[in-house]
Amino acid sequence: MCKLAVFASGNGSNFQSIIDAIEGGQLQATCEVLICDQPSAKVLERAEKANIPAFVFKIKDFENKSAFERAILEKLRDYDVHFIALAGYMRLIGPTLLEAYEHKIVNIHPSLLPAFPGLDAIGQAFRAGVKVTGVTIHYVDSGMDTGPIIAQQAVEISDDETEESLRKKIHTVEHVLYPQTLAHVFEKNKQEASNK
Ligand code: GRF
Repeated sequence: MCKLAVFASGNGSNFQSIIDAIEGGQLQATCEVLICDQPSAKVLERAEKANIPAFVFKIKDFENKSAFERAILEKLRDYDVHFIALAGYMRLIGPTLLEAYEHKIVNIHPSLLPAFPGLDAIGQAFRAGVKVTGVTIHYVDSGMDTGPIIAQQAVEISDDETEESLRKKIHTVEHVLYPQTLAHVFEKNKQEASNK
């Protein structure tokens, strides 16, 4: 069984969809731990409710990013974590974690990458006036929303769309696509490990 850590900074609706999929048996994994960088994030309440250990690491408590990530890494090792899912984690992953979890970190981004990387991708797409945007799940590398793409789903922007209604549509897609894609990734990893 894949031991997962979720990293999040905010609301955590994607964290919720992952733990719900585990609970419902659609995702064969365990969520061992939540890593958060914001002490007031709502995702922490969700973890508490679900009885998932959660740890807050504030970057300003550390000398530099490498020390920050080394502390996180230690926690991940305590929980024997195999895989990391970023779910609204508002920080770039640095070399310390990338090297320790090579090809084992995935992210969800609310646009059809490579279009609209970075902050507020939904607002960016809305303001650009595109007729189609969507959701991307990708492996994480050192860039901002640049790693190899695993899955994408398009979302149409209708003529009477508001930014708020688009946001809702995107989140609805995310909450299905992320657990589904993680299930495929974990299955593929399992097969590759058993072929070795
Ligand atoms: C999602 O739109 C995700 O694609 C992006 O950040 C948002 C997090 O939302 N990376 P939530 O905190 O999971 O509700």
